[in-house]
Amino acid sequence: MRSEYPNKPHEDLDSIEAEHRVQVGMIDALLNADANGLDATAVDEILLRLLEYTRLHFLSEELLMRLHAYEHHDEHVFEHRRMLDQLEEIRKVQQSGQVDEAGMSVQRLRARLLGHIHSHDAELSHFIARR
Ligand SMILES: [Fe+2]
Repeated sequence: MRSEYPNKPHEDLDSIEAEHRVQVGMIDALLNADANGLDATAVDEILLRLLEYTRLHFLSEELLMRLHAYEHHDEHVFEHRRMLDQLEEIRKVQQSGQVDEAGMSVQRLRARLLGHIHSHDAELSHFIARR
């Protein structure tokens, strides 16, 4: 039977890429919080949204890995867990009032996420695109 929703890997990859842009956009909003006049409540709100969005984004990537029997699933998921831990830690630091420390950690997270996108995620995209 033909599926009413045929699998279109390139569309999955497009949506993953769009989600990366949203993630980096939220991180940049955090890094520009001062310039944009955001108070601690607004920053915490963005951090919470970023955490929730990132969890969902990672889950959708992890589902794709399962669907395509991706061989590097475990190490990729391990890296996701570490970034989520880092993000949760940043939120705690921010909530404790250590704003500068939180800001530096967001900067490190941004570099790490971009590194992940250009390595782990790029490798996953190539793998799916070849199928
Ligand atoms: Fe990923």
